[in-house]
Amino acid sequence: MADLKVLGICGSLRKASLNMAALRACGELLPPGMALTITTGIGELPLFNQDVLDAGMPEPVQRLRAQIAAADGLLIASPEYNFSVPAPLKNAIDWASRAPNQVFQDKPIAIFSVVAGSLKRTRMQYDLRKMLVQLWGHVLPRPEVFVANAASKFTEGRLTDETSRKFLAELLAGFKDWILRMKKT
Ligand SMILES: Cc1cc2nc3c(=O)[nH]c(=O)nc-3n(C[C@H](O)[C@H](O)[C@H](O)COP(=O)(O)O)c2cc1C
Repeated sequence: MADLKVLGICGSLRKASLNMAALRACGELLPPGMALTITTGIGELPLFNQDVLDAGMPEPVQRLRAQIAAADGLLIASPEYNFSVPAPLKNAIDWASRAPNQVFQDKPIAIFSVVAGSLKRTRMQYDLRKMLVQLWGHVLPRPEVFVANAASKFTEGRLTDETSRKFLAELLAGFKDWILRMKKT
């Protein structure tokens, strides 16, 4: 059987984003039978505007939508901004959610976040989950993974904390089962 194609999306556009670094680590932690591609496409999108959409779906939006549509599952890593989902990620969801063929329909999705402080910031994850579920995305319920105290977990842009790597590996193993379960239904 061909590998399950997972598309990684990062909610931070920062070059040195730790969420992006953790997504890259996920590429090393995947169970057999999964392959991860990470998109940087959300940084290329214009701000959502119905007038722009009415004039024709912009190229970068078409590209991102095609990437999402082609994936067997989405793996979203994102920081929390002002108690919720960062604007670039919300903007991408708004673009991708428009007809025709809204691309989150029946898409298996896993979420995790890398957080600067010591507290697990559940708000971003719950807001993101709420958006995706109402689009009929199938968001993996558990485990909920947070990499807190982020600065201490990375060395030169690489996730080196073994406990965090173990939690991410568990998330990815659960995600593989979730994708396969969704394919059967
Ligand atoms: C505009 C803005 C708002 C933020 N709001 C929150 C917040 O509400 N809660 C929180 O825990 N961290 C907040 N932060 C801190 C980010 O979550 C933190 O910088 C994170 O590590 C950035 O992720 P990155 O390394 O992937 O860019 C905020 C940062 C910015 C720039």
